[in-house]
Amino acid sequence: MNIKGSKILVTGGAGFIGSHIVDFLLRQGAAVRILDNLSFGTMENLVGVKDDIEFIQGDILDPETVAKSVKGMDIVSHHAAQLEIFVAAEDPSWDLKVNTIGTLNVFEAARQAGVGRVVNASSACVYGQKDGLTTETDSRKPNWAYGVSKLAAEEYGRIYSETKGLDVVSLRYSIVYGEREWFRRVLPIFLKRALDGKPPVVFGDGNQIRDFVHVEDVVRMHDACITDDRAVGEMFNVSTGIGVSVVELAQAVAKLFLDDPQIIHEQVAEGKPSAQIPGKRRNAAELKAMLLAPDKAKILLDWEPKVPLEEGLRREYEWAKAHPHRWGKILNSNWNV
Ligand SMILES: NC(=O)c1ccc[n+]([C@@H]2O[C@H](COP(=O)([O-])OP(=O)(O)OC[C@H]3O[C@@H](n4cnc5c(N)ncnc54)[C@H](O)[C@@H]3O)[C@@H](O)[C@H]2O)c1
Repeated sequence: MNIKGSKILVTGGAGFIGSHIVDFLLRQGAAVRILDNLSFGTMENLVGVKDDIEFIQGDILDPETVAKSVKGMDIVSHHAAQLEIFVAAEDPSWDLKVNTIGTLNVFEAARQAGVGRVVNASSACVYGQKDGLTTETDSRKPNWAYGVSKLAAEEYGRIYSETKGLDVVSLRYSIVYGEREWFRRVLPIFLKRALDGKPPVVFGDGNQIRDFVHVEDVVRMHDACITDDRAVGEMFNVSTGIGVSVVELAQAVAKLFLDDPQIIHEQVAEGKPSAQIPGKRRNAAELKAMLLAPDKAKILLDWEPKVPLEEGLRREYEWAKAHPHRWGKILNSNWNV
């Protein structure tokens, strides 16, 4: 399917991933509307496209606003969410409400408006603690409240696909990185320190394995899911299948961007604040491994990740360097970081 001329709503389009999707859709000739409450995203992510989009500032928890936003759309890309692990742990009701009721509002409005397809941003967090490569058919047992709400949203999507005639595709993102990634995650903090000439700080031994997928690859996968009918009703890992430990990530950043490629280890108990990184707490109940097999997307949609980690790190570093004001504080955050 060619999306030129298609009308596409992107919820969460002022955020990190959503804004990259918006850029891509506009380049393909789609007409883009965005629904975002700007609780976490920023109009700065849309500055290059502000004259080419329709922007609705509103909340996915408000069914009327969602219905108004969905009206007349051919496709919905649903990326608005509460995704802060600490917020979910401290206020699971709020997390559940935004991610589940908000998503249901989007599905129901899309069904009523006769939308052709919804792409729903899900998360690797639906799986919880796993050893080795995780595939889509593996059991799901989230370790964080956030994973529970994302899993519920995904299951509602499946039900809407199977019983209500709405085509929903869910994408289980691993760790998405790249330009505009929000501050206070591990990689942006490493990069910010490197920009200041300081070594990365690794909490504990840093042996946790993570799967970093570049946002450009995510955008290509998203495109495959709106253009290819084989995606309908499916859920896909969106990942590289390449495990990188946090300490390896720190070493890569130090090697690429520091004259003296040292790293620092800080012993921080899970859930406790760091002495080295003001405002940063170590996640509680951390996953030892998050590594998702991308094979299903390759077999069914001929998609595979293309951006090598080193290139992705260079791009994000250059972006961070060009946007120092985005890094001085924790953006739009009202919790105690
Ligand atoms: N970034 C990752 O590594 C990652 C990994 C797995 C899943 N995801 C999922 O991808 C999606 C996008 O994540 P992101 O990293 O771009 O996050 P983000 O915070 O940058 O983007 C989310 C956007 O949604 C908006 N938003 C939040 N609550 C809203 C509400 N109630 N109503 C309307 N808008 C609201 C925010 O203002 C923000 O612009 C989310 O669904 C997230 O759960 C992201």
